[in-house]
Amino acid sequence: MPTQSSTLPSALIVFGGTGFVGTAVLAQALSRDPHCHLFVVSRTGVAPAWVQSNPTYQTPRLHFLQGDLLAPHTVLEALQPVSQHYRIRACISCVGAITPWSNQNMVRTCGDANIHAYTISKSIGAEKFVVMTRDRSNMDDWWYPFPRLIPGYYEGKSRIESCIQGDADNLGNAVCLRAGFVSGTRRTVPGLPTWLKISLPLQPMYKVLQQVCPVIDVEVLAAAAVRFALSPHKAPRVLVTNDEIPTYFDSATPA
Ligand SMILES: NC(=O)c1ccc[n+]([C@@H]2O[C@H](COP(=O)([O-])OP(=O)(O)OC[C@H]3O[C@@H](n4cnc5c(N)ncnc54)[C@H](OP(=O)(O)O)[C@@H]3O)[C@@H](O)[C@H]2O)c1
Repeated sequence: MPTQSSTLPSALIVFGGTGFVGTAVLAQALSRDPHCHLFVVSRTGVAPAWVQSNPTYQTPRLHFLQGDLLAPHTVLEALQPVSQHYRIRACISCVGAITPWSNQNMVRTCGDANIHAYTISKSIGAEKFVVMTRDRSNMDDWWYPFPRLIPGYYEGKSRIESCIQGDADNLGNAVCLRAGFVSGTRRTVPGLPTWLKISLPLQPMYKVLQQVCPVIDVEVLAAAAVRFALSPHKAPRVLVTNDEIPTYFDSATPA
């Protein structure tokens, strides 16, 4: 069992902290807690080029580790020293992808990888767990193509949600943030090398989209994840809808 003590420095672990949502989580966590260390776990194990040159991320409190959640022993090995020397406040998983494009891969990355993240989180003594899943409000609309185009993505998301909902012993400590389309400036694109400097402002497109589908700003989503992760309070339920995310665990929302 890992040693957990309030005398240890505190840490957050961010699975997928090199991606669009994950890098926003890092920025929120760095600004909300001036002492907490952040450990990013991803398959590349290095900060994307734009993060390396962005002042927000220039701090010795940010560490990048290599680990593949589909080979969970690699993640456990990478995190073992962290669990010995830090109090792990939470693990936040921003892992999930539609590439490489196959339903089997989507189930694995959205489902299996996140189930491994959850299991590892508990085994290293993390106090809380947050995972990004997906809003479902348009699922039955005839014109909404995604349930037919990417069923494996939704299947994977359902699997991690069921896994957490079925874990009665850990009730209140783990939540699924059911995000709509995430708006903001995307600086990494899945499948493209992270040394490329990209800037894709999604806001203009999502201004139109939000007339018919739930949309959430990337910083708003990231802030909610960090508020819950750092709060001493338990969550009232596992699933958090897109509408609830902006005020989730803010001072006005009793836990
Ligand atoms: N973007 C949206 O509009 C949206 C909407 C609703 C929900 N979400 C959910 O929010 C989460 C984050 O989305 P995003 O747009 O930020 O995705 P993203 O930019 O593609 O980032 C995904 C991250 O996961 C890591 N990753 C992928 N496979 C991994 C594995 N096997 N082991 C460890 N790390 C792995 C990637 O890094 P490496 O490649 O280095 O491993 C990357 O850091 C996903 O679960 C997504 O489904 C996103």
